[in-house]
Amino acid sequence: MQGITIVDHPLVQHKLTIMRDKNTSTAGFRQLLREISLLLCYEVTRDLELTTRVIETPLTTMEAPTLEGKKLVFASVLRAGNGLLDGMLDLVPAARVAHIGLYRDPDTLEAIEYFFKAPSDLGDRLVIVVDPMLATANSAVAAVDKLKERGATSLSFLCLLAAPEGIAHFRNTHPDVPIFTAAIDERLDERGYIVPGLGDAGDRMYGTK
Ligand code: PRP
Ligand code: URA
Repeated sequence: MQGITIVDHPLVQHKLTIMRDKNTSTAGFRQLLREISLLLCYEVTRDLELTTRVIETPLTTMEAPTLEGKKLVFASVLRAGNGLLDGMLDLVPAARVAHIGLYRDPDTLEAIEYFFKAPSDLGDRLVIVVDPMLATANSAVAAVDKLKERGATSLSFLCLLAAPEGIAHFRNTHPDVPIFTAAIDERLDERGYIVPGLGDAGDRMYGTK
């Protein structure tokens, strides 16, 4: 599928299976999400541009690869996005962070915004939007709409699980934004939950149900 990368690394798939298991504890779920985020971050940053700089090793001088100037923004869709964010910041500590507070209205499944805070120079940066779940994609579309409105021009979307319906909605609305996911599940149920899925990511992370 165009514009979609499935991160099928065995470690990702193994950890995801444990996360899906309803008997996994809140602490275990949170820890696994953090671990998976390191592996997903590796994949979503694979095409970052490199330049070189001259350094002295203990033996000689060399032109060594280093990341090109363009800095990253990780844009976390609250609450569950924070579960991916923490591990990603371990790998890229210099990244800037945007927070986008959204929740799904349980009846209409529309995304309701309650918070937005982002660096002012979004146009100069690659913005990686992170949220474990892409279900109807109403939240992902709203997050990217807002970031584009605030100047972002170069974006990717990183999640853990995606539904086919959400992928279609997101790709139709934002065809310029590639999706990275660990798995594409079967479908959405009548309440907009991903099946087989892992349940409500925010509730499982924070023990709020
Ligand atoms: C979840 C999830 C996504 C959204 C996905 O958040 O983290 O943001 O649902 O669903 P969608 O693709 O149909 O929009 P939720 O609204 O439950 O908020 P929470 O993270 O605070 O629990
Ligand atoms: N949000 C979740 O947390 N889980 C789903 O399955 C769908 C939306």
